Amino acid sequence: MTENKPVTIRTFRQMKERKEKISMLTAYDFSTAKYIDESGIDSILIGDSLGMTILGYDTTLNVTIEDMLTFTKAVSKGVKRALVIADMPFLSYQVSKEQATLNAGKLIQAGAQAVKLEGASDFILDEISHLTQSGINVAGHIGFTPQYINTIGGYYIQGKSYENTLKLLDSAKRLEENGAFCVILEMVPEESAKFISENINIPTIGIGAGVFCDGQVLVIDDILGKFAGNIPKFVKQYANIKDIIKNAASSYNKEVKEKVFPLKENTFNLSDEEREKLEYSITK
Ligand code: KIV
Repeated sequence: MTENKPVTIRTFRQMKERKEKISMLTAYDFSTAKYIDESGIDSILIGDSLGMTILGYDTTLNVTIEDMLTFTKAVSKGVKRALVIADMPFLSYQVSKEQATLNAGKLIQAGAQAVKLEGASDFILDEISHLTQSGINVAGHIGFTPQYINTIGGYYIQGKSYENTLKLLDSAKRLEENGAFCVILEMVPEESAKFISENINIPTIGIGAGVFCDGQVLVIDDILGKFAGNIPKFVKQYANIKDIIKNAASSYNKEVKEKVFPLKENTFNLSDEEREKLEYSITK
C-alpha cells in the first residue's frame, strides 16, 4: 500500500486480510523519519532501542518517558503518511493502569498514533484493555522482549518448542482479545511465527521471526550499517553509513588542517566599500 492516504490501524487490519505485507522501521529523528516516510514505509516505530542506538546504553532499561517524548516529537514532525508508534519505556507502565494511561497519553500528545508495550501477563493485558478503551491504540510485543532481559537471562530465541509456541499463541490471542491492533514477534522460529500469524486476526510484525509474519520491522541504524554495537543475525544491512560518516569526517578533518575548507562558496564577504574601510583602519 504506497498510496498517499495516511496509514491507520484499520489499514493494518485490511492489509492482513488482503495478505499484503506491512513494512515497519524504527526512526528517532526528524530527517530520517521524513525520508523513511517518503519511501512509502507503512509504519515508523520510535523504539526504545534508541537507548542503544542513540544514547549508547547497553540495554533498553535506562530509557525514560522523557527520552521517548523528545524523540517521538521529533519523528512525528517528519511523518505525513506512516503510522507512528511509540514504545512505552521500562517503568512507564509497570506501576499501575493510571501511570500507563498518563504516559501513553503523553506519547500520543507528542505525536504518536499508537503505543507499544512488552509482555502479555494478566497485568499488562488489563492495562492494554484500559488503554484501548481510553482511545489509545496499542501494539503488543511478545517473543523476546528486551525490557525483560534480566528475567530471560540473555538474548534467547523464544517459542522453540511445540509447548512454548502454544504459549506464545495464547499470549497473542489474549493481546488481540484485549484490544491490541498488532503484535510484534521478536526472535521466534519461523514455523512458530507462521503458526501464530495464521491463528490470530491481528497482524504479526516479525523481527527475527521469518518471512511468514504479516509484516516486518527492523532497527534503522542496523539496516543502514550505522550502529556501533553487535548486529543480530536477523538483520539485513542495506547500506554502509558507518563508512560514509568515517570517510566524510576524515576528509573534513584533513581539509580543515590543510586550509582547503572553507571554500570561497562557503564564505560570507563584506562589500568592497566596507572591506576598504576595514583595510584602511588596519593600516593606519
Ligand atoms: O525498540 C525497538 O526498536 C523495538 C523493535 C525493534 C521491535 O522494539
